Amino acid sequence: MYKLETIISLAKRRGFVFQSSEIYGGLNGCWDYGPLGVELLLKIKDSWWKSMTFRDDIEGVDASILMHPRTWDASGHTKQFSDPMIDNKVSKARFRADNLIEEHIIKLRSKNKNDEADTIEQKLANIKENNDYLTIILDHGIKDPVSGTTEWTEVRNFNLMFKTFIGPLEEASSVVYLRPESAQGIFVNFKNIAETARQKVPFGIAQIGKAFRNEINTKNFLFRTREFEQMEMQYFVKPGAELDWFDYWKKQRWQWYIDLGMDESKMRWKNHDKLAHYANHAVDIEFEFPFGWGEIEGIHSRTDFDLRNHQEFSGKKMEYVDAVNNERYLPFVVETSGGVSRGLMAFLCNAYSEEHVTDDNGKTDVRTVLRFSPKLAPITAAVFPLVNKDGMPELAQSVYQDLQKSMKVQYDSSGAIGRRYRRQDEIGTPFCITIDGESLTENTVTIRERDSMKQERISIDKIKNYINDKIY
Ligand code: GAP
Repeated sequence: MYKLETIISLAKRRGFVFQSSEIYGGLNGCWDYGPLGVELLLKIKDSWWKSMTFRDDIEGVDASILMHPRTWDASGHTKQFSDPMIDNKVSKARFRADNLIEEHIIKLRSKNKNDEADTIEQKLANIKENNDYLTIILDHGIKDPVSGTTEWTEVRNFNLMFKTFIGPLEEASSVVYLRPESAQGIFVNFKNIAETARQKVPFGIAQIGKAFRNEINTKNFLFRTREFEQMEMQYFVKPGAELDWFDYWKKQRWQWYIDLGMDESKMRWKNHDKLAHYANHAVDIEFEFPFGWGEIEGIHSRTDFDLRNHQEFSGKKMEYVDAVNNERYLPFVVETSGGVSRGLMAFLCNAYSEEHVTDDNGKTDVRTVLRFSPKLAPITAAVFPLVNKDGMPELAQSVYQDLQKSMKVQYDSSGAIGRRYRRQDEIGTPFCITIDGESLTENTVTIRERDSMKQERISIDKIKNYINDKIY
């Protein structure tokens, strides 16, 4: 397992991810995606979008980020979307009370104090109210990591939604929220989409879009950020059919990660013991990050909670009318909800590797490789003239320009060829194409595959097919 710092440093050095507004010292919990990061994001989203909408029963939508504030009353977010927060009176540092306790448990386990760790874990599982967190923190002498004291405030609920105002007046009646999940944009459009797309239950609606949460604890790079992107799909089914669909979507979503090269030994299922207020069944797909296991996607059986509440709060009928069977009902919903940016971080960690290689002169060296699936690699191919003379740059340029019409390609003519390969390995480019002396007479190139480092000679007119065969 590689250190997260190593991966963050590569991500910055090669232009995947930068701190937001870095020149001003950065903004906590916000990140910018550089030239390679944005390509990777787009490929993740493109693959997800196609897997969802290139079928008969799923339609797409792109709802606005700002929604009518009643949306969040109906969904339960204004009342219930909060974390228990505690402040240290000396350092003024603020923590999520549950995280503070969890970290204390990890510390106890690292010191082999497993009995105490088990006791606290048991208490944590039985929390009923905020006061219970404080009791654990005080009873077990949990100290502030900043000041080292146990001078804690009460535990209070902290709503995670970002508030702003719509229009010129900053008053209570003009409050709106940046959406904390994209899902509600789907629920409120359920009738519009069912009717205009003439879909019949069961069918789904897919959306990719930004969501915002004023997270208290934003460490671990892209894992928990304040602005992030989600890929969500709500599948509307007849009540009673939800658990079969739940199993179906579990399989689909697991396979999606595998098809994109995720190492299955770094993935696992986690059942929700405590269900969210809207769910009757829920599981997460977790990935083993350098800091430990963490959720990358949730699959939730949300019952008719959302449609029922929107019907009640808006006064508009949200029922589905089944004209064939002469029935009306509020559909149940199975949701798949993945994070684009959290997924990107998982794919990056999954791809990172360092290996010792020996060159022709017997010199060993460390090769850093991002082993992305060719489907996800930000740059699909790189084109090199072996030397910058004898007509090689001209032929290399023409190969490059031609490939660029259908895929993302880089041209590199500087430095020794071995160095150029390494630069591409480090960003995960699966194919490097070299134009050499033989290319000029035989119309062929060498194509080197990133992981095996094996080279093949193929004719120029076969390059596109060669690459496409490996991607699709
Ligand atoms: N509509 C259901 C929903 O939003 P969630 O478990 O809160 O469920 C779903 O979020 C996914 O969104 C998570 O699995 C994660 O990938 C991503 N996500 C949630 N909060 C995030 C954050 N603060 N930063 C990055 N990604 C986040």
